[in-house]
Amino acid sequence: MKKLLLLFLLILNIGAYSQTYSDDVAQLIFDNCASCHNPDGIAPFSLMNYSEVSAQAVGIYDAIAQDRMPPWPPNDDYKPLSHSRALEAAEKTTILDWLGNGYPEGDPANTPAPPVFNTDAILGQGDLELQIPTYTSKATSYDDYVCFSLPSNLVQGRTIRAMEVIPGNAPIVHHALVYIDETATYATDTTGGDCAGPTTAKLVGGYTPGASPLVFPNGPNLKLGMEIPANSNIVLAMHYPSGSNGMKDSTKVIFHFYDEPTTGVREISADPILQNWSFTLPPEQVTSVSASYSNIPYDVSLLSIFPHMHLLGDHIKSYGLDPSNDTIRLIDVPHWDFEWQDFYLFKNMVQIPANSTLHADGAFNNTAANDHNPNNPAITVNPGLNTTDEMFLVYFHYLLYQPGDENYDIEEMTSLSLQELVSTEDLSNISIYPNPTTDIINIEIEGEQLANNVSASIYDLNGRLVEQLVNGKKFSGTTTLKWNGAESNSSVYVVSIVLNGRHYSQRIVKQ
Ligand code: HEC
Repeated sequence: MKKLLLLFLLILNIGAYSQTYSDDVAQLIFDNCASCHNPDGIAPFSLMNYSEVSAQAVGIYDAIAQDRMPPWPPNDDYKPLSHSRALEAAEKTTILDWLGNGYPEGDPANTPAPPVFNTDAILGQGDLELQIPTYTSKATSYDDYVCFSLPSNLVQGRTIRAMEVIPGNAPIVHHALVYIDETATYATDTTGGDCAGPTTAKLVGGYTPGASPLVFPNGPNLKLGMEIPANSNIVLAMHYPSGSNGMKDSTKVIFHFYDEPTTGVREISADPILQNWSFTLPPEQVTSVSASYSNIPYDVSLLSIFPHMHLLGDHIKSYGLDPSNDTIRLIDVPHWDFEWQDFYLFKNMVQIPANSTLHADGAFNNTAANDHNPNNPAITVNPGLNTTDEMFLVYFHYLLYQPGDENYDIEEMTSLSLQELVSTEDLSNISIYPNPTTDIINIEIEGEQLANNVSASIYDLNGRLVEQLVNGKKFSGTTTLKWNGAESNSSVYVVSIVLNGRHYSQRIVKQ
């Protein structure tokens, strides 16, 4: 049907003025698609140049028109969320119009330089790095879900300020969830291929391809963190997609802690507040399921939300009802996709007054029409911990409410905290000038440090690569690298430099 629509648009628009790949579309694809659609990314094909993009024109039209790509299941109109991956309406129109007009290339000389993706930690070394042992995926026609329990070896509790997950083999790491197991009892589980993660442990956050590291707000008036108690284990629940059988991965997680002591850090609680464990899903039926939690005892501020179902999930919506029965919107996922589940950070924290009730309503599709149904023919499915069982829960990161919580711009604060974190390293022997600048930034690196390899990149405050200046290059003597920011928006950027394995960063201001 959509293919016909594209054909129709093509006929309608022949000869009309249209946008070109080089001038209008390439940058949008680089910014919104290439982080996954590159030769080393999670997506099945690359979209890094005109021939790759034009070869997929029909598929791209469908995927964008039907909001399947970029993957971002929540409905942003229901509740504003931070760091949305969704295309803006104007961006969508530009790409669809261009496809409808026969996707002309334009002048290749105008095509912006394709992005280069950094597989290193953008936050640098951190305070605690844990890596899973090398694991060989067993995902043939089904996905492989395995969990690794790693001792933190912390002798004293520490508070997480940021967490970065670095996939060992990005093309096969579809997602990873990171848990704190205070009891250090949960065991590594790589046998059944259906490990859904420990239910009693505290979920910190996760990794999905193309996402920025998790950084908690850290401003003068609002510092948030999560404690890893001494002797806890860290559990990584890994998801490798079908077809990755035989490929190896060794993903690591790097924690950055608040300095000891830091005062005024508010502890984030993490709990699956909404849960339903008593439903049955008969075969060939769509079954509605709900969960609620009455009489919240205190005023709380919700920081983020993580709705969770397994493969039969169809949709889920969560909201609160305050004591006067007014609705507090939380999240709406109209088409549940197990492959793209995530913690969603609210744009502003959501205040839930004491005595409110929280709700989640959803449905499971246990019919043959559900592509993700692991059973053919469908069988009765009950709640349980394995991926082929079902779950219905909503996790929250929350705090005791303090007046004014709802006014913090969490999206902005997390971006700034990320940028601050990359700029704390020692910058002696590196001079970055002029700063602020209107166009050129010089990055002068003194000779003695240049023995081996030098990488230097410019990132925006969301941790997205703006330009890679050099990658693993050898230099001798003092070297000056230049970034020309003349064409870039006026904003704060981060220069990130790796010298012989050490990471240095500094913020720069483009006026
Ligand atoms: C966060 C990672 C990610 C981003 C960003 C992303 N994709 Fe994808 N894309 C994937 C993966 C993974 C698949 C394979 C199917 C799946 O897992 O949904 C895919 C599949 C596709 C497909 C084929 C399947 C389908 O659903 O039609 C098209 C076409 C596509 N992507 C286009 C795009 C375009 C265009 C953009 C940018 C506007 C984009 N993608 C952004 C990860 C991504």
